[in-house]
Amino acid sequence: MKLKVWRQAGPDDAGRFETHELEGVSPQMSLLELLDVLNDQIAAAGGEPIAFESDCREGICGACGVTVDGMPHGPVPNTPSCRQHLRAFGEVSALTIEPLRSAAFPVVRDLVVDRSALDELVEAGGFVSLMAGTAPDADALPVTHEAAEEALDFAACIGCGACVAACPNGAAHLYAGAKLAHLALLPQPALERGRRAVEMTNALDEQFGPCSTYGECAQICPAGIPLTTIAVVSRERARAKRRKRDD
Ligand code: SF4
Ligand code: FES
Repeated sequence: MKLKVWRQAGPDDAGRFETHELEGVSPQMSLLELLDVLNDQIAAAGGEPIAFESDCREGICGACGVTVDGMPHGPVPNTPSCRQHLRAFGEVSALTIEPLRSAAFPVVRDLVVDRSALDELVEAGGFVSLMAGTAPDADALPVTHEAAEEALDFAACIGCGACVAACPNGAAHLYAGAKLAHLALLPQPALERGRRAVEMTNALDEQFGPCSTYGECAQICPAGIPLTTIAVVSRERARAKRRKRDD
């Protein structure tokens, strides 16, 4: 296997591709296991291992995103980098691996990018600040089973940022829409719905590009957040403005 991997010493370094030949690659290996083997080889030769992020390695934490042959996360659709296995890539003998590419995600080192712009969206309003007391009995909550299930579907977003990297505009509407929809569906978070919509959509405009509904975001989203979720951003923004006007 021939691997072309992006190397960048730090945010101010121009960066470059480095090419490696790797022996003993198994089709059962995941992309991250491939990088582990490559790092062992580099370290054994006295070199500096490639920096990349991972935590759960089972599609939960969202830490692992890299770009493989131009595709955020890799060639298998709706699958995070840690769950991309070589057996699903077909007959490949060469791969190009680089960081998630977006103006909102500056490279920290090698394949590691700074995704704190996504955290700033959540800090702007994607939380519940009401004193809710201790956890009530589950069947005492005034929420239907359907609403709870739908909210959980939106809460499945793992915050990987691949939607932003896949978007030609660098928009984060799929991510922001998932947060807004999740919290709008549940009774206590919905009490802060208007403030949340204003703060989050303002932060969205400041940090990310505009949405042109290209749809690449939903094509790669490992949590299966549907493209219709981007409409939630405009809906919540318009709702907040209308209610403020009516007040
Ligand atoms: S919406 Fe999907 S692609 Fe975007 S951050 Fe969430 S899980 Fe990742
Ligand atoms: S390492 Fe957690 S989602 Fe990939």
